[in-house]
Amino acid sequence: MFRCDKNTQTRRRSQMSRGSQTDRKRSTNAFSESAGWGAGLPGRQLLHKTFWILLEVNRYTEYYFRTKYCGPEVTATAAESSSVTGSGVMMSSVKVECVVKESALIGEGPVWEESEQTLLFVDIAGQKIHRWNSTTNEIQSVETGHMVGFAVPRRSGGYVAGVGRSIVAVDWSTQTMRSLAEVDQDKPNNRLNDGKVDPNGRLLAGTMGMEERPAEVQRQQGSLFSLTSDLTVTRHLSQVDISNGLDWSVDQRTFFYIDSLSLTVDAFDYDSPTGQLGNRRVVYRLQEGEGLPDGMTVDANGHLWVACYNGGRVINIDPATGVQLQTVSLPVMKTTSCCFGGPDYTDLYVTSASLGLNQSEQRQQPLAGATFKVTGLGVKGRPSNSFSG
Ligand code: BGC
Ligand code: CA
Repeated sequence: MFRCDKNTQTRRRSQMSRGSQTDRKRSTNAFSESAGWGAGLPGRQLLHKTFWILLEVNRYTEYYFRTKYCGPEVTATAAESSSVTGSGVMMSSVKVECVVKESALIGEGPVWEESEQTLLFVDIAGQKIHRWNSTTNEIQSVETGHMVGFAVPRRSGGYVAGVGRSIVAVDWSTQTMRSLAEVDQDKPNNRLNDGKVDPNGRLLAGTMGMEERPAEVQRQQGSLFSLTSDLTVTRHLSQVDISNGLDWSVDQRTFFYIDSLSLTVDAFDYDSPTGQLGNRRVVYRLQEGEGLPDGMTVDANGHLWVACYNGGRVINIDPATGVQLQTVSLPVMKTTSCCFGGPDYTDLYVTSASLGLNQSEQRQQPLAGATFKVTGLGVKGRPSNSFSG
């Protein structure tokens, strides 16, 4: 069944870094409770549970008919989301809207460009960089000729992208690319995946081995690299499975990083002037049903928003405590990455993939591969950084 429950679910998790884990789950969702839902319950509790189940069924039906008959241009679903505050649970109205209905094979790496109010993102397997104009609703695209893992703005104009194993400069106006650096020369089957620029203008980007099927890769072939303005490449990590989401804390002293197959979100101490990483630890481990951690962004409060591939959701985590603060459900399972944008950075843009869905999944998820805008989260993001080289 479609996961219409997650928006009402608040989950608290303890920090996992040293293996100690006490899960305290609090949920308003009848389905998430233990098996045999009616067994041995007194009448009032049973009535209460029946009520919640009917409510969930009603929400699902509403969602299904909206997306099926209204088409992808309309709001896909409007749902409530709970967020934990010091004083208890505060309800806010979260809306999920499909903004780019064109289906990407693997939509990824959204970046908000403030000057033009555009959203830059890639279709990795579709081998394209897209730029969606939120004002005119137009999309411009550049073909990359090979798989493209990320594209980020460049201070001197145009973009820098990870194409195959090359980091290239992209001239948008002429639609041409020029190689700046190559990584993993000894691993011809590898390719660049997610990449992001730190507040100093340094690019960090990772690689992964050959992927037989979505999320099935040759293990430990990837690395994490940085590229500085003088085009020096430094390898920071090796034996990575799928190098994925990355971002920095507000004070720039922590680097958050995802190697998807580890099922964790990790943190490193980050020395901003040199880019050195140290003291790796786990800040969050994904639970059964949450899928694989993929792309992520850090909001202005320093909290993480992690897109969960095969999880159909974005989870919001406080990295200081390991507590999951909010979950946003999307009408597609392969949610891949997210970034904040919009005039005041309060909209969360979420990309998705369609590659790897079977026919029946494609029918159930007509919006797979689309890009979504989530509003009403009550938080702000931060502007993206541009590569200084
Ligand atoms: C990669 C995909 C992979 C997915 C799930 C994405 O970042 O580009 O190839 O299947 O993550 O881990
Ligand atoms: Ca990714």
